[in-house]
Amino acid sequence: MPERFTVTTPIYYVNDVPHIGHAYNEVATDVLARWHRMRGDDTWMLTGTDEHGQKIMRTAAANGVSPQEWTDRLVETAWKPQLELLNIQNDDFIRTTSERHKAGVRIFLERLKEAGYIYHGEFEGQYCVGCEEYKTANDLVPGTGEYEGQLVCAIHSRPIEVVREANYFFKLSEFGDRLLELYDSRPDYVQPEHVRNEVRQFVKQGLTDLSISRNTFDWGIKVPWDESHVVYVWFDALLNYITAIGYGVDDEQFERRWPGVHIVGKDIARFHAVIWPAMQMAAGLPISEHVFGHGWLLVGGEKMSKSKATGIEPKQITEVFGVDAFRYYFMSAIAFGADGSFSWEDLDARYHSELANGLGNLASRVIAMVHKYCDGVVPDVIPDAEIATLMADAVGRADKAIDTFQIHDAVDAAMSIVERLNGYITEQAPWVLAKDEAQRLRLHAVLATNVQGIGTAAIMLAPVMPETAQKLWAAVGGEGDVTAQPIQQAHQWRGTGRVTTVPPLFPRIEQP
Ligand code: ME8
Ligand code: MG
Repeated sequence: MPERFTVTTPIYYVNDVPHIGHAYNEVATDVLARWHRMRGDDTWMLTGTDEHGQKIMRTAAANGVSPQEWTDRLVETAWKPQLELLNIQNDDFIRTTSERHKAGVRIFLERLKEAGYIYHGEFEGQYCVGCEEYKTANDLVPGTGEYEGQLVCAIHSRPIEVVREANYFFKLSEFGDRLLELYDSRPDYVQPEHVRNEVRQFVKQGLTDLSISRNTFDWGIKVPWDESHVVYVWFDALLNYITAIGYGVDDEQFERRWPGVHIVGKDIARFHAVIWPAMQMAAGLPISEHVFGHGWLLVGGEKMSKSKATGIEPKQITEVFGVDAFRYYFMSAIAFGADGSFSWEDLDARYHSELANGLGNLASRVIAMVHKYCDGVVPDVIPDAEIATLMADAVGRADKAIDTFQIHDAVDAAMSIVERLNGYITEQAPWVLAKDEAQRLRLHAVLATNVQGIGTAAIMLAPVMPETAQKLWAAVGGEGDVTAQPIQQAHQWRGTGRVTTVPPLFPRIEQP
């Protein structure tokens, strides 16, 4: 039986167009999904858009269109095209305005109500529309500039709004002990460690019940038993993970796909690792496998954001460096889980040293030598043991790294092969061996070792740089689609056919 791997991105707010922070999350989730597919796991990658709530309602109003028109436009012209641009292989795309989602949300709410976890009550809270979140005193900081003298959201730097309404509540406060038990019994449930600690600390301080409806605006899913209320946007949004896979309507699909793994920004780890598991407990569902909170892309030390106009659009980068370099850069330059600052200089430097001079150069040298010294036929000789061992270790290390979401380490393992082969060629000097007929076998072993190394690296890099990997694969004479190769045995591939040619992979980019 193949193992299940269901992995999700957050569903993104479509109040504006995506920036590289969203792309970062999409690419990371896609790399994990692609890696698991190449393991042979029963893989499902879900992504989508979060379309209700006040933030989007207000943005639409400011642009003079209905919220539905606004989200339709943004989804079709910006969010779906971004997935295409970045070569994301998602299996599904869910919109919270879709009928299937709304139906699932209604079923879930009815079940929670029947189980006694929902009640009606008076409410007063401090709300950040940017976060679409009720804030505690700890989440607020003194404002600066035009907000001097007020308390503002620590993330959005904007004032909070006081909400006073009669709402429906979810009895979140009843789940504190069970949540702490969950974090303790499954230490890898929330990752990385600093996010787990933060979440645990938050729950330890004691939970209050959560207001899960609003009745002062109507852009949302109607509460099934009281249509004067719409469901709180986060309660609605979190349910996408199950409504998309058939919750309440397709038991077979649901059982096949659930539970899944959530890859989210650390800013929303609390929703995913506190509210969401409590909702799952209340509904009697199996709890998600993992919640991984990745770091932020920073600009000037702050989280890159649309609302602060610090967003860089992916195509500004892909137009210059290409999509694979984009994917490679963000997956290798930032430790997954830590914050990272994007810089053009760093991208340019890594592109030239690691991709153009490292990987691209290795491939073109090796292919050229197999043509020159062996008429393009890969010698059928056992590769050098030192390199074979190094490759087996690299594959094992990378595969383990994927299980702990250390994507950068998996990429590093693949690139360690490239780096070693470049050194190995210099040491072995095939051009010298070629001059001596007595060294024929040695020459063949060196070239076969290199071909195998490139093939292995191509397999390992396929989840990160799908197009480049396929070109490398074809160049070393690999058959069919590189993604059909079992990634856990990448080091066992033996090229015995003919090499072809390497198209230019990473052309040099001249600085303007
Ligand atoms: O929070 N650096 O959506 P969202 C890294 N709709 N990642 C970033 C980033 C940055 N500067 N900015 C955004 C929401 N992201 C909700 C989610 S899920 C049920 C509902 C990434 O559009 C990061 O992964 O504000 C973040 O969690 C995600 O985009 C969604 O951002
Ligand atoms: Mg956000």
